[in-house]
Amino acid sequence: MQIFNPQTLSATRKLAELIGQYPEAKNFAAGLPDPNHLLADQERMLQKHPEAVKYVLENTSPAHFNYGKTAGPDFYRDFFSKTIATDWNLRATAENTLIGTAGNTGWIDILLRIMGENHTQPSAVFLSNPTYTGYLATLDKFPQITAFGVNCDKNGMIVEDLANQVEKAKRAGFVPRAILDTTRHHNPTGRNLTLERWQSLYEILKRDGIYFINDNAYSYLSFDNNDFHPLNHDPENLGFEMVTFSKILIPGLRCAVLHTQAEYLTPDNQRRFFTEKVIEYLAINNLNPSIPAFMCALSLMIDDTGTPQPTLKPLAVPKIESYKKRYQMISQALSDKLGSALKNGALQYDPVQGGFFIYLRYDNNKIFPNEVARQLLEKYNVAVVPTEDFWVKDERNKKLNPQAIRLSFSGIPIETIEPGVDALAKGLKVILGL
Ligand SMILES: Cc1ncc(COP(=O)(O)O)c(C=O)c1O
Repeated sequence: MQIFNPQTLSATRKLAELIGQYPEAKNFAAGLPDPNHLLADQERMLQKHPEAVKYVLENTSPAHFNYGKTAGPDFYRDFFSKTIATDWNLRATAENTLIGTAGNTGWIDILLRIMGENHTQPSAVFLSNPTYTGYLATLDKFPQITAFGVNCDKNGMIVEDLANQVEKAKRAGFVPRAILDTTRHHNPTGRNLTLERWQSLYEILKRDGIYFINDNAYSYLSFDNNDFHPLNHDPENLGFEMVTFSKILIPGLRCAVLHTQAEYLTPDNQRRFFTEKVIEYLAINNLNPSIPAFMCALSLMIDDTGTPQPTLKPLAVPKIESYKKRYQMISQALSDKLGSALKNGALQYDPVQGGFFIYLRYDNNKIFPNEVARQLLEKYNVAVVPTEDFWVKDERNKKLNPQAIRLSFSGIPIETIEPGVDALAKGLKVILGL
């Protein structure tokens, strides 16, 4: 039984349904933020709502409502651009920042749509291997765009492999257009791109005019204070940044920003074309940012006097602490219960500095992750996510053997961690013959 196949859009739902059939399962398969955070934030929103409403109304005109500007009302663009400028040291202004309420998923859809529909030659997009399944599911909708997978190590895409894939794409008649990747706390591997790696990759981007679309889904969820940000090292303005607040700042509310370091109205015709298209597609798809979503967002982001906070990072701190604690408990339990397999390399994972995920590799090519996950669920009552489908399918490279499962620490209650890792360890010992 294939338990996960994101080539159909309902894959995540199917996985959730399957896990739902095992209500007692210890759940390391969550992909979403902790539901308790969502409830706590809603309560806080309700408390603050009167100030937020007052503040918004004092600063709002009829043009700000849904029939208004599709790029997002100036007031909100100004507010959100100032905060991301402070938080990430970006040259963000209202002019080069758009806001939306369909999450980073909405931006990815629009950016790929533009690439697919506005070029006569077929386009190539480069994804890390493995990659976030949401990119693959969205790309499935655009037959004019072909995904090329780039192998990675713990620091990000391997430069030589990106160069190879770009050449391969060109030889096959594709125009290399963009890299789409998560540079911090990658899903599913948890890795971070390093500055050194970025600078080497950048030579290829520059040479071929390839855009870099950075899916900033988890940067606010960092356990360390490493603030390296690729767009601060982007002299050619090739980067686009999507910052979603849906994971940690306002869990579940898919308020998200699309930003580029370039001024929108620069003489760069290609970029201006691109930006104008984004706004046009927002309008066509009726994706005008909705005021209620922003009211909720604002209610979290103003202080008690109704003044917007200059930085959003402090809002994340209590949640970071709670995720970090769970991560530390899981890694401690893994070394207590699977210490010898971790020492002799039969199991491996790279420690993470944030995000939701641990990518647990195993050294046994006789059994695929789908089968490991199925047996863990059916026989040991533990839910994990298998990783076959996080890989870009490449017809010329059929021997993909990811040999890893993804463990999430975002949804598991503290008291379930110990018994959960215990059951996981028992299961893995038998299934993998550790
Ligand atoms: C890497 C990555 N990008 C984007 C998303 C979706 O973000 P949003 O809720 O803003 O659409 C997810 C959600 O799982 C993710 O893991």
